[in-house]
Amino acid sequence: MHSTLIKDSFGREFKTLRVSLTSLCNMACVYCVTPGVVQTENKQTVLTTAEYLSIIKKIHEQVGLKTIRLTGGEPLLFNEISTLIKGIVELGITDIKLTTNGLRLSAMLDDLVDAGLRSVNISLDALDPTVFRSITKVHNIRLVLDAIENAIAKGLEVKINTVVLRGVNDHQIIPLFEYASSRNISIRFLELMKMGYLHYNETDHFYGMDEIVEKISSVTTIAKMERAGSNTATYWQTSKGMVFGIIANESEPFCSDCNRLRLDSLGKIYGCISAAEGIDVKTSADAFLTEALETALAQKQDHFTGSEISMKYIGG
Ligand code: GTP
Ligand code: 5AD
Repeated sequence: MHSTLIKDSFGREFKTLRVSLTSLCNMACVYCVTPGVVQTENKQTVLTTAEYLSIIKKIHEQVGLKTIRLTGGEPLLFNEISTLIKGIVELGITDIKLTTNGLRLSAMLDDLVDAGLRSVNISLDALDPTVFRSITKVHNIRLVLDAIENAIAKGLEVKINTVVLRGVNDHQIIPLFEYASSRNISIRFLELMKMGYLHYNETDHFYGMDEIVEKISSVTTIAKMERAGSNTATYWQTSKGMVFGIIANESEPFCSDCNRLRLDSLGKIYGCISAAEGIDVKTSADAFLTEALETALAQKQDHFTGSEISMKYIGG
């Protein structure tokens, strides 16, 4: 039986669980990885598929989850991801989504879709290979572009995520917008978030919602749509019916109806992306889990306040 008691005074509750499957990534994006620091993960402590399923089951029993989004690091580095998806479907949660950088997607696509994956958000910060490489430190943009084509052909819902960095890829906004239009898929432009090493460092690269809107307005007529409850993005529609979004953490915070809970690859839950610390639920008894969920809910804020935890640890 699902409890309905875990709700805060703003009516916020947990309906979407973002599950980070690893903190490792096969890209090293400039906004995520501290320059010069080698990426490592303590393999001993990361959750197994059985442990993920056990925690997800217990959380689901308490809050009645509607959606699971698998994240990372790069979630496709978790080799048993399709087995995990099948297990989640067996728990009765069928709305299963993935956020990926796309590098390994084409090779794993059939298994993922057979297992029950329905929707995928793919990061693509540039169409220009040199710009793409300067941001991700990876040269094979072709793998990502092929992954987008293959995911569309396979019938998945596909959205593109683009983090906009002033002076780095802002000139890619229109090409990316036109690329997404030509594929008839949504693209969301993300304002840079002060996470990880950016939390303590000033950056000149922030590029805000108003400028993105202005840029796209210069090539087409657009109308803002009403934000659907708990969405990260605000969406606009063009006169030709194409939809694009902006995830405007700074310009237009969207915490007031946030329904997200996060589970990291060590078994800690976070009620907010800005939370400084997770709550360990790896070995907890059911009674403690209720308490942990209430503590996590109390972590929710009214706007993103930054975090010293990089996105790759807490699940982008
Ligand atoms: P959809 O279900 O497709 O709308 O996905 P999503 O936007 O929730 O997921 P995705 O993994 O694509 O996240 C994109 C970006 O949204 C993240 O990198 C963050 O910038 C932002 N985001 C996601 N969840 C939260 C959250 O709980 N709080 C804040 N402030 N930002 C978030
Ligand atoms: N600010 C904004 N977006 C970020 N992402 C990772 N780190 C940051 C940051 N500091 C993006 C990834 C991916 C999404 C899940 O989060 O590029 O598209």
